[in-house]
Amino acid sequence: RETLVVAIDGPSGSGKSTVARRVAAALGLRYLDTGAMYRAVTWWALEQGVDLADTERVAALAREIPLRMGQDPRAPAVAVAGTDIAAAIRTSRISAAVSAVATNLGVRAELVSRQQAVAREGGVVIEGRDITTVVAPDAPVRVLLTAHEDVRLARRAREVHGSDDADAVDATRDQVVRRDADDSTVASFHQAADGVDVVDSSLLSLDETVDAVLGLVEKRA
Ligand code: C5P
Repeated sequence: RETLVVAIDGPSGSGKSTVARRVAAALGLRYLDTGAMYRAVTWWALEQGVDLADTERVAALAREIPLRMGQDPRAPAVAVAGTDIAAAIRTSRISAAVSAVATNLGVRAELVSRQQAVAREGGVVIEGRDITTVVAPDAPVRVLLTAHEDVRLARRAREVHGSDDADAVDATRDQVVRRDADDSTVASFHQAADGVDVVDSSLLSLDETVDAVLGLVEKRA
């Protein structure tokens, strides 16, 4: 268990953050939210007034960012130069801008290498879009967490707007459908790679989804 790596990928609204945290807590593992790292670089770039289209400068920022990812699944902290940005990176401003940073290949090279250093230490659940394929393709447990698009839209709408009525769902569409389309150009998370187990959470409760992933850990690790 001390060396176990559980890799979880999925589109936005698939519930992967919540599920990954619950799985890590249940197994006594650390937790790494790689999406939060892309969000942190986005926050840092906007904070410094850097044009996100300036790929060289944004990549340089990613190499220099004094980013600290807390790895407690019950309270995953994100800090840049000592400032807690866990809440600041969840705003719609960051969600709208993050794909421009995540499609920057210089940024990806840097963040993937930081994530691989965590994977090498082991004892961790790592969650994102390219964990099963790029960051930790040799992890013993690799899971693609999916859910039908309407289910993901409704979940995100409840999370962000506290409601899943038609207006709330429409307001969330950009953050789910457009973002996934953009993200898909650099990471493949709609189809499971060879050897990756699929868990479709569309008809499952959170507890059932967590149990399904824990079942895969029992089976594979
Ligand atoms: O998971 P979350 O929605 O917080 O991810 C934010 C963004 O980070 C995604 O929309 C995607 O652009 C990027 N991302 C990525 N690769 C990962 C994790 C996240 O490109 N492994």
